[in-house]
Amino acid sequence: MKHFSLSKRLINRFLFICVILVAFLAALLWKHPEVTERSGVVPVEQEPVEVAVNEPIQPIPLHIKLDPGKVALGEKLFYDPQLSHNNTVSCATCHNFKTGGVERLNFSRGMNGALTSVNTLTVFNSGFNFKLNWDGSAETLEEQVDKAIHNSKDLNANWPEVVSKLKKSPEYVKVFDQLYAGGITDHSIKDAIATFELSLYTPNSRFDKFLRGNLAALSYEEKEGYRIFKDYGCASCHQGVNAGGNLFHKFGVMGDYFVDRGKVKKADLGRFNVTGEPQDKYVFKVPSLRNITLTAPYFHDGSAKTLPEAIAVMAKYQLGRQLSPEQIDLIVKFLTTLTGEYKGSPL
Ligand code: HEC
Ligand code: HEC
Repeated sequence: MKHFSLSKRLINRFLFICVILVAFLAALLWKHPEVTERSGVVPVEQEPVEVAVNEPIQPIPLHIKLDPGKVALGEKLFYDPQLSHNNTVSCATCHNFKTGGVERLNFSRGMNGALTSVNTLTVFNSGFNFKLNWDGSAETLEEQVDKAIHNSKDLNANWPEVVSKLKKSPEYVKVFDQLYAGGITDHSIKDAIATFELSLYTPNSRFDKFLRGNLAALSYEEKEGYRIFKDYGCASCHQGVNAGGNLFHKFGVMGDYFVDRGKVKKADLGRFNVTGEPQDKYVFKVPSLRNITLTAPYFHDGSAKTLPEAIAVMAKYQLGRQLSPEQIDLIVKFLTTLTGEYKGSPL
């Protein structure tokens, strides 16, 4: 009898532990974040559908979960000229979504008409790049916002002034207080803009459909262009989810691009301006080729007016090859298939 009640008690205790365990697991699963709080770089999700794993370029995730409140706030800030010292320039001045996230000018004009020292990079898909800016001077999207705010050729402002301007708006105060424990601070402004930038991904290009197994998504000529792109070695630098954006490389591997172009400026020193290391002279982040047909002119100096021109320069200075006009045309056709969708509509 005693034995029986002891084992019964043991069973009860065992059952009790089981219930606790199940409850704990359920809580864990339930707690599992539905919404990615945010980080400098987008985690590339496992795709539920078949993806060509052996290709140098990978598809952009079809969906990225982000806090919709922060995305909306970040969008408002992106268009707000109060982020500039004299309330004349916003992020959207130079990053126009109707023209591929750039202005299609050699250089953009910031506050008081100051010209930027390099060609404007697109904000689309920037969350997939391992670092930001041509020289990789910003490690995260937040740090990039910080630089744009302070740069005299961009917004030419500082945090105390921006924060105090925004605090005068009851609407901003309300929304920031709802989303951030600290309300309006440089940190929450950067976080909201960075979260909005993570929403600027452009999935579902024809090339991504091809990578996901729809072989008919590309024409014969576009596939030929992709074959040349791989065979000639473009893909050794332009690779990964963004067809670029994941490594640094010297501009002018097989010839001195800068001597041939002439008039070398500080901005041409690239990564050297960040590290001070002699081997980083003329080194740049390999730029993304996503939506590339929309973002002429090309290169950090805006020197190539057209895509065929840029491709010929790349073949000559990065690969030491000369491509025929037909080959260049096929590569252009392939690159055209990298144009994706923003919020479900073609860019
Ligand atoms: C005056 C024009 C101008 C304004 C205003 C401006 N940008 Fe830019 N943006 C540029 C230029 C030029 C670059 C390239 C800078 C470099 O490489 O040093 C750039 C680069 C970037 C990049 C890096 C892209 C990448 O993949 O490396 C991001 C992100 C970005 N800007 C976001 C913003 C945000 C957010 C704002 C507002 C806070 C802003 N920009 C305001 C011109 C501008
Ligand atoms: C050794 C590495 C390397 C190889 C190989 C290479 N690229 Fe590039 N590519 C770069 C770098 C670095 C830049 C940035 C140059 C700059 O403006 O400073 C660039 C820039 C570009 C641009 C301009 C992008 C923009 O937004 O302005 C295009 C287009 C391009 N490459 C296409 C190609 C094609 C096509 C090939 C093959 C024929 C190729 N690249 C081969 C490293 C490479």
